[in-house]
Amino acid sequence: MKQDSVNIFDQNWEKYDQWYECHPEVYHSELQTLEKSLPDRGLGLEIGVGTGRFAAPFSVPLGLDPSLNMLRMAQSRNIKVVQGRGENLPFQKETFHFISIVITICFVQDPLKLLEQAHETLQQSGELIVAMINKESSWGKFYRQKASRSQFYHAAHFYSVSQILEMFPKAHLEFKTAWQTLCHSPPHIHEVEPPQKGYTKGGFVVLKAVKK
Ligand SMILES: C[S@@+](CC[C@H](N)C(=O)[O-])C[C@H]1O[C@@H](n2cnc3c(N)ncnc32)[C@H](O)[C@@H]1O
Repeated sequence: MKQDSVNIFDQNWEKYDQWYECHPEVYHSELQTLEKSLPDRGLGLEIGVGTGRFAAPFSVPLGLDPSLNMLRMAQSRNIKVVQGRGENLPFQKETFHFISIVITICFVQDPLKLLEQAHETLQQSGELIVAMINKESSWGKFYRQKASRSQFYHAAHFYSVSQILEMFPKAHLEFKTAWQTLCHSPPHIHEVEPPQKGYTKGGFVVLKAVKK
């Protein structure tokens, strides 16, 4: 079983959040790519909201995370927060118009269970947006090499996009679109990289699926 990442994020939440200040080109490339898929209205939830780095700019109203310290920061960014795990969502069935999961699937214990829970709490035809580091990209390889020295990534289990796409039908989700960025090799990126369609080249990939 993979190491539980929650304590790591809970103890190092400031360092995690600060990383985005130091890497604005990566952050804005990721934001632009997420924007291609994220609905701009409706009742939305981010599972693994962390400090709200990705929920706040898009006004995603509600975030769930097991780490209290991460949630405190998200709350200060005007997000309503709930403590909990994505594998056991404390919401009624068919509540949300959309659910986002941003750079979190590699940190949860059971990603299929997470997708099944997301399916259950989505309304009919609701949208699930999964933003992930693609294990098979040059960024995925870079992070895996760094994992033994990285406070955060040594608790991660990276997936290829194909592995996540295989989980979608098992969770009764139908794949719709994919957008990607960070198609150039890491670690240095000097300007914001606009999103491209597809998922075969990008280090950061955003998949959209709908509830069947
Ligand atoms: C890399 S951070 C991503 C945070 C935020 N989505 C972002 O992109 O800035 C991963 C987050 O996943 C959370 N996490 C770990 N296990 C989880 C689980 N089982 N369910 C929900 N969130 C989890 C961690 O506490 C952490 O806040």
